Amino acid sequence: MPKRIITTDETEEDLRLEPKLRPQMLDQYIGQEKAKKSLKIYIEAAKKRGESLDHVLFYGPPGLGKTTLAGIIANEMGVNLKVTSGPAIEKPGEIAAVLNSLSEGDVLFVDEIHRLNRQVEEVLYPAMEDFAIDIMIGKGAAARSIRLDLPPFTLIGATTRAGLLTAPLRDRFGVIHHLEYYTPEELTTIVTRSANVLGVAIDGKGAGEIARRSRGTPRLANRLLKRCRDIAQVMFDGEITEEVAVKALDFLDVDRMGLDHLDRLILTTMIDKFAGGPVGLSNLAAAIGEDGGTLEDVYEPYLIKNGFLMRTPSGRVVTNLAYTHLGLAAPTSGEE
Ligand code: ADE
Repeated sequence: MPKRIITTDETEEDLRLEPKLRPQMLDQYIGQEKAKKSLKIYIEAAKKRGESLDHVLFYGPPGLGKTTLAGIIANEMGVNLKVTSGPAIEKPGEIAAVLNSLSEGDVLFVDEIHRLNRQVEEVLYPAMEDFAIDIMIGKGAAARSIRLDLPPFTLIGATTRAGLLTAPLRDRFGVIHHLEYYTPEELTTIVTRSANVLGVAIDGKGAGEIARRSRGTPRLANRLLKRCRDIAQVMFDGEITEEVAVKALDFLDVDRMGLDHLDRLILTTMIDKFAGGPVGLSNLAAAIGEDGGTLEDVYEPYLIKNGFLMRTPSGRVVTNLAYTHLGLAAPTSGEE
């Protein structure tokens, strides 16, 4: 798969950059107003009662701040944060050890929680509900289970695929939030804040240009900011103005709607080879040399969400917006 600057997966550079740019407290966190408002109330209430916060589930697309929010919750509650992920825990004993290491009130963040296996998940049920784990000792007829008490703690789960969560696990979260894509205005504020943290000179229009091309995703906005800074320093006088941002982002091949070469390849292939559709997923995937699942899960959502492509019962179809965006004449109605 070709590397895309607009991937929402965490790159190595993001891992180095993000901790520095991450807001530490709720007041510094921009966007996700609904989640922020309710978390503020729950945090305050839990603190007043001197209890741990209820278990929280965040779901939504990657790069929108699930890990950041988990860190903020721990900071606001004044407790430790332990981080792990679904694929990292393979055996019931491993999750039991993690749970056993928690102190009172701590936050345990489990990223990609939908990828926990069944046996591991079953350890979590009593842990979440009764703050206890059941450990089996012995084998065969002599086997018995002993219950080990845990301190009260908060589990924060994050998933990009809420539909893949089992019902018993989902039901054990008291607070569930869907994280939304950010507006260009919110992203402009985030880019400006990040530029400040990094000591990068930027003006409002420069930040706005990066924001508009960042596909609603702070992770991407921060990555593009960093690339724009490099280009501003090498090719200009160091400040990211609108002119610099436009040149840098064009150079990076992220266009005015946040599409990259692959997005455009999908649309032009549909237009040139399939008369704009309808075309079936496997045909389209073969034509662009990509796997069908990746096309469906990774490439298509942004195109669909922004009205460039539609899924219809007879196959994928490009919209008039796609033709206009690519500078092509749309077929007259009746021909489609
Ligand atoms: N950096 C990344 N996401 C952010 C957010 N939501 N608010 C502030 N800074 C951020």
